[in-house]
Amino acid sequence: MDTAPTQMNYATTSTGNVIVEGPLSDDTLGRSIVPARAYTGDEEFAHEQRTIFRSGWSWAGYAHWLPNVGDVRPTTIAGTPVLLVRSTEDEIKVFHNSCRHRGMVLTEEPIEVTQRIQCAYHCWSYNLDGSLAAAPYFTRERRGQPSPEAKERLHLLPVPSAVWAGMVFVNLSDDPRPFEESAGPLIERWSHIDFDRLHLAAEREFDLQVNWKLTVENFLDFYHLPFVHPQVGPVTASLDVDDVVIEPSLIIGGTYPRGAVGKAKKTEDQLPYLGDVPEEKKESQDIFCLFPNALVFLEADWFQVIAIDPRSATHTVEHMAVFVDEAAADPRYAGAIADLVEVLFHVNEQDIPFLYKLQAGRNSIGSDHTSLVPQWDQITAMFQTIVAAKAGYGSER
Ligand code: FES
Ligand SMILES: [Fe+2]
Repeated sequence: MDTAPTQMNYATTSTGNVIVEGPLSDDTLGRSIVPARAYTGDEEFAHEQRTIFRSGWSWAGYAHWLPNVGDVRPTTIAGTPVLLVRSTEDEIKVFHNSCRHRGMVLTEEPIEVTQRIQCAYHCWSYNLDGSLAAAPYFTRERRGQPSPEAKERLHLLPVPSAVWAGMVFVNLSDDPRPFEESAGPLIERWSHIDFDRLHLAAEREFDLQVNWKLTVENFLDFYHLPFVHPQVGPVTASLDVDDVVIEPSLIIGGTYPRGAVGKAKKTEDQLPYLGDVPEEKKESQDIFCLFPNALVFLEADWFQVIAIDPRSATHTVEHMAVFVDEAAADPRYAGAIADLVEVLFHVNEQDIPFLYKLQAGRNSIGSDHTSLVPQWDQITAMFQTIVAAKAGYGSER
């Protein structure tokens, strides 16, 4: 597979940064791509749930949420309740969370079952592969079960799903493209990483009263780093981010060729690498949005995910997880891991007041006259262009 990000033209600035030539030019100054109402309106939120979150692959959870066979975890994607289940074959499967009898959700809380998921209403029960196991008194007789044909038909409805890099993805569209194909270029770019060896270092939820798009845009905004996160490094180092477009409609972000967060700590207690990392990638950090809701960060010795879980127009939950190599589970790395996690959590905390103020600004008519600038904001503009195309926001411009 050709994974070189060749689809785009690139510009190199005087400081050596690579900037993609995206949708922005000086002519677009003062023109918004996504209208302000898309950050505040309930109708727009519902529309985006349908046109964005139900139209392709979305992050739906972490594999470590289901460590054991029989673990069942409900969640909601684009308003649709689904169940993540660790099956008897030790694989994660996803089903619509809806009993095949009267459509009741089977559980609203995580549960552990020994063999079957049982509906509380009339006690139909399902095996971990989704097949109907039993439906008591189905024929109104004591042992009356559905016929084999009826049983065959009445399994839980499967949702196409994929597990990669510790994450569970689902696809609620009518005609899903295989995940391996969709995310293929990123899987290939990171093929030196052994994701089977991920060890959870820390996990935290951030409950934010902001629109989901602002959280994504903030991570694609490399311009704010020296102003909001001065600890990331001297201005020259912090600004040294190359824009990277792996696939214009799906995988966009950037890379720090010489590393960023946590770099200063690398010399002592060097954490074990997450795979056979080539020399040129030992210092670099990749930051990508796997559209729409997985923000993934990779250095040679840690992997971070900030998964964006939109709840309403002005409410978003971020599920943040930091992973290291399983060899780093050794207690001698405890200090280095604690330092790393503190740095990463701190960076995210620093952004929160800015997100709230960005959200507040969306109530101003000024937000329809903002100026993403070609020198800095091409990646943000690309994200907004994908959103606008899917949700049909182009017509207001
Ligand atoms: S609704 Fe589930 S058994 Fe009747
Ligand atoms: Fe930030």
